[in-house]
Amino acid sequence: MTHVHEDFGKMDANGTTFGKQKFVAVSKSLALFLLLLFVGCIVATGLLVYHLSSCQSVPQVEESKLLMLNKHSNGDITTVATADPSTESETEEYQFSTTTTTEKSKTEIEIDDVRLPRSVHPHSYNIKLIPFIQEGNFTFHGEVTILINVTVTSDNITLHADDLIIDNILVYEHLQTNKFLSIKQAANETKRQFLIIYLNQPVEAGKQYYVSIKFRGILNDLLQGFYRSSYKINNETRWIATTQFQATDARKAFPCFDEPALKAKFQISLARLKNMTSISNMRKIGPYSQPVRGLSEYVWDYYEESLPMSTYLIAFVISDFDCLRNGTFSVWARPSALSQTKYSLQIGPQILKFYENFFGIKYPLPKIDMIGLPDFPAGAMENWGLITYRESVLLYEDKVSSKGSLQRIAHVIAHELAHQWFGNLVTPVWWSDLWLNEGFATYVECLGANAVNPHLKELDQFIINELHGAFMLDALQSSHQISIKVNNPDEINNIFDRISYSKGAAILRMMQHFLTMEVFQRGLNKYLKSRMYKNAEQDDLWNMLTQQSHEDKVLDPNVTIKEIMDTWTLQTGFPVVTVQRNYEDSSVTFSQERFLINNENRSSNSVLWWIPITYMDRRSVVKSTWIGAEPAITLNDLNISKDDWLLVNINQTGYYRVNYDDRNWNLITAQLQKRKGHLAFDPKNRAQLLDDAMNLASVGYLDYEIALNVTKYLKQEREYVPWKAVFTSLDYMYEMFVRTAHFDKYKNYLLTLLRDVYKEIGFNESEDDQQLILYLRFEVNVRTCKLGVRDCIISAIQQFQTWKNSPYPDKRNLISENLREVVYCTAISVGGQEEWDFAWQRYLNANVENEKETLLMALGCSKEIWILSRYLEWAITEHSGIRKHDSARVFAAVANNAIGQELALGASSMSLSSIVRSCTIRFNTQMEVDNFKEFVKSRENEFGVALRTAQQSIEQGEANVKWMSKYSKKIIKWLSNSNT
Ligand SMILES: *[C@@H]1O[C@H](CO)[C@@H](O)[C@H](O)[C@H]1NC(C)=O
Ligand SMILES: *[C@@H]1O[C@H](CO)[C@@H](O)[C@H](O)[C@H]1NC(C)=O
Ligand SMILES: *[C@@H]1O[C@H](CO)[C@@H](O)[C@H](O)[C@H]1NC(C)=O
Repeated sequence: MTHVHEDFGKMDANGTTFGKQKFVAVSKSLALFLLLLFVGCIVATGLLVYHLSSCQSVPQVEESKLLMLNKHSNGDITTVATADPSTESETEEYQFSTTTTTEKSKTEIEIDDVRLPRSVHPHSYNIKLIPFIQEGNFTFHGEVTILINVTVTSDNITLHADDLIIDNILVYEHLQTNKFLSIKQAANETKRQFLIIYLNQPVEAGKQYYVSIKFRGILNDLLQGFYRSSYKINNETRWIATTQFQATDARKAFPCFDEPALKAKFQISLARLKNMTSISNMRKIGPYSQPVRGLSEYVWDYYEESLPMSTYLIAFVISDFDCLRNGTFSVWARPSALSQTKYSLQIGPQILKFYENFFGIKYPLPKIDMIGLPDFPAGAMENWGLITYRESVLLYEDKVSSKGSLQRIAHVIAHELAHQWFGNLVTPVWWSDLWLNEGFATYVECLGANAVNPHLKELDQFIINELHGAFMLDALQSSHQISIKVNNPDEINNIFDRISYSKGAAILRMMQHFLTMEVFQRGLNKYLKSRMYKNAEQDDLWNMLTQQSHEDKVLDPNVTIKEIMDTWTLQTGFPVVTVQRNYEDSSVTFSQERFLINNENRSSNSVLWWIPITYMDRRSVVKSTWIGAEPAITLNDLNISKDDWLLVNINQTGYYRVNYDDRNWNLITAQLQKRKGHLAFDPKNRAQLLDDAMNLASVGYLDYEIALNVTKYLKQEREYVPWKAVFTSLDYMYEMFVRTAHFDKYKNYLLTLLRDVYKEIGFNESEDDQQLILYLRFEVNVRTCKLGVRDCIISAIQQFQTWKNSPYPDKRNLISENLREVVYCTAISVGGQEEWDFAWQRYLNANVENEKETLLMALGCSKEIWILSRYLEWAITEHSGIRKHDSARVFAAVANNAIGQELALGASSMSLSSIVRSCTIRFNTQMEVDNFKEFVKSRENEFGVALRTAQQSIEQGEANVKWMSKYSKKIIKWLSNSNT
């Protein structure tokens, strides 16, 4: 799955940097506004907690239900279950009524119990579903027949079902289809989401049986399981029935053995209205459309049987969408958005081809469909053969969507296609290894995207888009190890976070570099081939890579990959390597310790990692060595002149920070400040030096003076990646200082750094600008306008007014698609209701999702409190025009904050986490932190999945308070001096 708020290049800026200018001038009224915003934010969080928990409370009403079995006829069962669920059946021998069970209360159930017993394995499924997608009847009827293998004789069959009404169950032996087993009772245990079928005679080991279940369910609007979505065409609502199953929601669509290791073959049949189409993982069989008995407007679509696969990868969609096709590759969209599928359709097959070569295994399914859905909880989902997306990461409109969204689309497609092998073909045994799936896809998506956009320096951008973000979270005490024990659905959903994705990707990248790409690829290929159509654990991958690297002699025969990688996957956090040179004998000592934001008890931290060290000097020859899970190593006689710098962690391929002795820092700074001297370092290393220096200083590992000196060279920096890296730290200072009396010093310094680059790349685009220049222009202009530079603000207002006065603003918009967010936001923030209402109207009318997202962010830039309050209220109001999956974006827009790092599974958990992050990012007084702590404490239960985010926010807030008291004076002093 792809997380929602990716921050590739420019998109992050869209999400993170806007609208803060309402705090630039610190006047009394603004201070008041700030207070209101803060209060409003807390209230809004409370509101949403309420709002979300009330949606979800429905299924929890009855703690545990027992489906009582009433035998209507005493005689033997003579009729075979009919495969067609639409037939009114006289064969329903069993009727179930529900009563509350007193067997086990919530607390008695041990957490490990949530796993299914292993006595029964599903072999194949036959699933038939009839969804009714009409106003007033959002339900579905279904029947599933599962062929099971019994491995241990057992008097029960236990599988998953959630939010389903079970109408009828039959169990019969394979090959003896008229011999039914007598069922004692069937219990629906809602806490564990189990359906337990107790039998009067056991199913026997070694035999196969059919379990046939008729059921009903609701096409919900919670964006999980089998759910409904809609869009409008000429004010008429069109409905869609679609699915999202990862991690544990297939059980909401049909009873099944809903664990990733229980792979089976699936045959799916879907009934649909005649004027709609259906798609699923596999190809539709023939052109047939059989009538559905009793439902004259419906017909059946039958699908080929799948290859062995996990339940969470099943998908189907029924809609009136159209598609564009390229061979066996299709992209689906609302008919009016069909032309926006061209880009995806162009790059999809190219990326697929790239992976076939990369993995050395052909894509195993006969076709692939991708579809853009109006409501979608995540960014995208890799269902095998039918990948689902939210529209904004699949659909692209030239001259409307920014170049940044072009890159984002390539990434998301590359991510999901990578999963077709890594995840779908070979699947983790259990969710504990989720990081491997997601980390891997996050890493190779860069390779896949690079294959179609080679000019984007994808591998440079990895550093700013993934690595630095992972550092940020992983430096908190409240971080977690990436390989983590999880059991119940909440715990599982909790680990779809930045640690799993970005840190996972970063350590795999590190491994690829110390193994070399060739060895990495050979090992991967062996791993995939040995486990395909089956499941694997991380140790299986480590074993294959150890074998391969010993064979190819890239690894000491006494060391295994597991030994190395376990230090990264089973331990929390990451190290800072301190480089201490001896300038007399040219030796150097590398030592390691955990890098922590809150590092008061530094010495008590004894975690050690296996760290691949790379280093070079002025001569640019890269050498390498290891710190092998030991506190320090010393290399003698490096043969570096005492006036030369030493650079460590080349291209930042290692997942660690580097600190140097002061003298080496000063040598590096001197190099950077020479005219064009910075070109001695790769842009990746410049990004690294800036990020390391500023972060080391912010937690006391390095003197701020030295760190700030590193930033001085930025006047001559013209590359996007280093700028983007340093903006994270500079924006942090912005947040900390914006409400203080000394903000002008910060502002003047930043404007000094930006002046030349702003002058050079300006506000207006030229045809032949490189894409990364477009990104840089955006980043620079965002900050230049935000800091109140007249020229910037006037350009923005002029462009906006021209658009506003044009006769057909929805049809024609001359503002560059790459600068729209700066222009809109600036104009809305200095404008009033008129500007806001105009933009809101454009939002409602827009047919391109990327444009909608841009407008949604910009609408949060208003300075009028009532407008912002109204906007927040609309965000949680049904039918306001803001989609459920976007409400978090509105909160973020209003609170003007980084939601960029938020990785999300469910719409609900995602919203709350984002909002919490949004509201707390600027906290830097003890009172704010304490208030928030209190708030969290009083509502701990309601936070659910967002609790971890809340804890992270508290820790970050406390770090901010400390930072203010420890460093702000010193920084202000440095800034004042540097401005003179
Ligand atoms: C179930 O048993 C059959 C027959 O023994 C065997 O061919 C099949 O591979 C088994 N399937 C699973 C999923 O264990
Ligand atoms: C929905 O429509 C189907 C088919 O007409 C019908 O059997 C079912 O009872 C309806 N359900 C509801 C809740 O109206
Ligand atoms: C069902 O049977 C299996 C295998 O015998 C057993 O492990 C499990 O506890 C049983 N479940 C219940 C609810 O009795």
